[in-house]
Amino acid sequence: MNKTILITGWLGYIWSHAVVAFSQAWYEVVIVDNLSNSYLEDYEDICSLLWKQPPFYQIDLRDMWKLEDLFKKYEFDWVIHFAWLKIVWESQDKPLLYFDNNVSGSINLFKCMDKYNVKNIIFSSSANIYTASNFEWWRKAVSEDWAIGNTTNPYGTTKFLIEIILWDLAKFNGFKVMSLRYFNPIGAHPSGKLWENPIWIPTNILPYIMKVATGELPEIKVFWNDYDTVDGTGVRDYIDVNDLVNGHLKAYEKFRTNLMELGFSTWFFYTYNLWTWKWVSVLQLITTCEKVMGINLPYVIAPRRPWDLAEVYCDPSKAERELWWKAKIPLQESIESSARVVMFGE
Ligand code: UD1
Repeated sequence: MNKTILITGWLGYIWSHAVVAFSQAWYEVVIVDNLSNSYLEDYEDICSLLWKQPPFYQIDLRDMWKLEDLFKKYEFDWVIHFAWLKIVWESQDKPLLYFDNNVSGSINLFKCMDKYNVKNIIFSSSANIYTASNFEWWRKAVSEDWAIGNTTNPYGTTKFLIEIILWDLAKFNGFKVMSLRYFNPIGAHPSGKLWENPIWIPTNILPYIMKVATGELPEIKVFWNDYDTVDGTGVRDYIDVNDLVNGHLKAYEKFRTNLMELGFSTWFFYTYNLWTWKWVSVLQLITTCEKVMGINLPYVIAPRRPWDLAEVYCDPSKAERELWWKAKIPLQESIESSARVVMFGE
């Protein structure tokens, strides 16, 4: 019998890709989303891609009654948890909203999982949980065993809190946890039907660049050019969303194999960095976008965002070794796939 997977936050950018990938791999997927940052219309696109309609429930994880009804209705084997508020400045403006939505919502989810004995979870974590000074002092790709905590903003704190809660649930409550840490997903689905399409003005760089490319926004604001980096602008490791989702599939397969091999009594908590090893500055990103799209992209230098770090990149070699996964899609291709959708609607 197929395994039934609950995916939370499915209409968000990454998880709409994940729903498609997991469904195409013949898993039964049930999805919940509160539609706070996504469009219901995307559901039709996803159904048309899949030729079926994965059951969808509009539920906010803070609504314990509705959530519990869902756990009564389905026998889930796994949960993949992505329902999350993720705008850094907003999290500084409204930390309690973030703690309520991200932390209380997750705890409700864990309570239901515990009550209905669904203890397997893949958690979408973040490089935000690594202690920021790791990146500042060492200028090395950070690996999974480096210190976590001392986050720079409440959004990162919510990811950190949930990881340590899951750690204890694995240790003391039989949860089986796989936590995947990543940072800057970009790109679109090859079908051209799924891409990052936030309801509000984008805060992440590539969707912002795309809005400048289409003329919806006048110019790119480069948040400072005086960092100690290759050209003074922030350096990141941008990963294609399709590579990222493939990493989740690999993690899921590894998860199932390990559970079968190690048995259900073993303490089970794994973390993996999903990164590409390719480091790109903001100006390099803009230049690459210009080349790929064949247009000029106006930009101005604007003040630093207070939470930004000069360089953020992690070491994915553990995932490459243990999950047999590797990010393959070049930056140009990710930009091209986003540009095709945004500029030509393909
Ligand atoms: C942010 C989040 C990260 C999340 C990622 C993807 C933090 C500190 N960052 O990463 O957790 O995984 O988004 O959702 O929590 N930039 C500009 N102009 C812009 C926007 C960005 O110059 O209009 C620069 C930034 O200063 C940075 C780079 O572009 O150097 C990437 O920024 P962004 O896309 O916002 O991602 P991060 O802040 O790296």
